[in-house]
Amino acid sequence: MQDKNFWDDIYRKGLTPWTDAKRDYCMFQQIVQDTKVAPQMKVLDYGCAEGTIGEHLLNMGIRVDFSEISEIPVEILRKKFGDISKVFLATEPKEIDGKYDLIVCCCVLHHIEKEKWYDFLLQFKGLLRGNGLLWLAGFDKNDKTTERNQGKFLATSDTCQFISEIVPIAETCEFEVISNYAKDIPNATLGTSFTTRFICLRLR
Ligand SMILES: C[S@@+](CC[C@H](N)C(=O)[O-])C[C@H]1O[C@@H](n2cnc3c(N)ncnc32)[C@H](O)[C@@H]1O
Repeated sequence: MQDKNFWDDIYRKGLTPWTDAKRDYCMFQQIVQDTKVAPQMKVLDYGCAEGTIGEHLLNMGIRVDFSEISEIPVEILRKKFGDISKVFLATEPKEIDGKYDLIVCCCVLHHIEKEKWYDFLLQFKGLLRGNGLLWLAGFDKNDKTTERNQGKFLATSDTCQFISEIVPIAETCEFEVISNYAKDIPNATLGTSFTTRFICLRLR
């Protein structure tokens, strides 16, 4: 797992090719579709970057807290949303103080070694209320564009894990799979699209 210094460096260099308005809006639409998120729910956006997906949820009147490993987006988020949201600087979910109905973890776990997923899932579980949802997105195993774009997105990662492989691990942590599918998501900034896998888990 890359540490805080690694991600601080990425942000200092402005290497954040994932952020794109069209792509972020598509991600938001997938979250709404998969989770039926509603204003009475409390949401955590874990590994939120500058909060460009969570902001759409805020605009729906939903309470959203944010969490990042890098202090650079954390400072930006605190200025932007500090009056309505908690913004955590955290390397692992256990460092967060809160209880949520939904945790969004978009394109984060593919940067974290599979060996750590079980522990991360248990930590997410500790942050969820009964029947809480964990919504995950990441590059799909069959994505050809990911291969072609390695130089671009893997600038931020030595390895790329595939979140489809989290399903059996999640089941041992008492999560049930609500949805699990792949879809092409455009990234206008990069002028391409990525086959992205979406997995929505519910705490049993
Ligand atoms: C590819 S970006 C995705 C950002 C955002 N979720 C999105 O989809 O637009 C990965 C993000 O995860 C953050 N990150 C990486 N490791 C993390 C960790 N262990 N805990 C929290 N955030 C982490 C990085 O700082 C980066 O902002």
